[in-house]
Amino acid sequence: EKGLHDLFLAAGKSYFGTATETTNLPDPLYQSILSSGEFGQITPENSQKWESLQPTSSTFTFAAADQIVSLATQNNQILRCHTLVWHSQLPSFVKTTAWTPSSLTALLKSHISNVMGHYKGKCTHWDVVNEALNEDGSFRPSIFLEVLGPGYIPLSFQFAAQADPEAKLYYNDFNLEISPPKAAGAVKIVKLVQDAKQKIDGVGFQGHLTVGQLPPLANLTATLRQYTELGVEVAFTELDIAHPTLPSTEQGREQQGVDYVTVTKACLAVEKCVGITVWQFTDRYSWVEGTFPGTGEACLFTRDYERKSAYFALKKFLEGV
Ligand code: G3I
Repeated sequence: EKGLHDLFLAAGKSYFGTATETTNLPDPLYQSILSSGEFGQITPENSQKWESLQPTSSTFTFAAADQIVSLATQNNQILRCHTLVWHSQLPSFVKTTAWTPSSLTALLKSHISNVMGHYKGKCTHWDVVNEALNEDGSFRPSIFLEVLGPGYIPLSFQFAAQADPEAKLYYNDFNLEISPPKAAGAVKIVKLVQDAKQKIDGVGFQGHLTVGQLPPLANLTATLRQYTELGVEVAFTELDIAHPTLPSTEQGREQQGVDYVTVTKACLAVEKCVGITVWQFTDRYSWVEGTFPGTGEACLFTRDYERKSAYFALKKFLEGV
């Protein structure tokens, strides 16, 4: 019987994947589902973030993320890599040093070239810049914006293309699905990089959504097309659909399935939507409950690894495509 990944391949897409982390791997049930063929792609949830990979200016610590790379190789899974330049999960030296434009440029170059160099040939996609926008579409404050202005974005793409010319380079953000001004900001970012004559290959829609609150399919599809019309691909990179209040209701669980299917339909409707990654497949390890207490159960599997109605709805839909 085909898993989600094979069904999605049969529908013409490149992958159906999941985020995962080394800390989850000792759990045998988790491992068995992760490696069962349901997921043909993985993304390290935390271990490739700046604080994990370069905790001080002179140390690079690749061991944890390397385990995810080995796992992908073992399981023959595509590896999406996450993330190079982000305001969050930065080590303290990045936040506290008195950078000048030239010293911060040198740091960006060194971080990107060391990290992408280490994973060269392994990462098929990289989230180069993550979450650079406020909800109103303006640039989000960060050390990078403060010292270098919006030019840090094309600069990061330039360094990334130099470090691994084969990797697909993405801008990645959340709420693009539901916030037109923010989606317009991401259009501006794609153009900013293109106008600087730098390579950008894709826009990642994180897809942290809420049950019953998705835009209509036609709107979601139109939003994706705003980017593919600029010549870049799109993907859902961190999909989870949380119940707004817990415990969830039977009706909410049905709606969650409808919503997972809507996202999948949107990706299928857009030729250059290449894949979907869920941000963990089990509620056991989902970030949502910890960050937004009282909401959650956002994943396709329960915390006890039962497949949910949303899983079956998605599977049934893909079988019918
Ligand atoms: O590893 C430490 C551990 O040593 C410590 O004891 C513990 C105590 O708080 O914290 C652990 O670190 C946590 C880390 O996850 C690993 O579990 C951090 O506190 C926690 O903040 C961190 O949360 C991650 C979050 O990004 C950080 O912003 C989530 O797991 C991860 O799912 C989430 O992922 C982000 C994407 O990267 C970008 N898009 C949004 C998405 C959801 O927030």
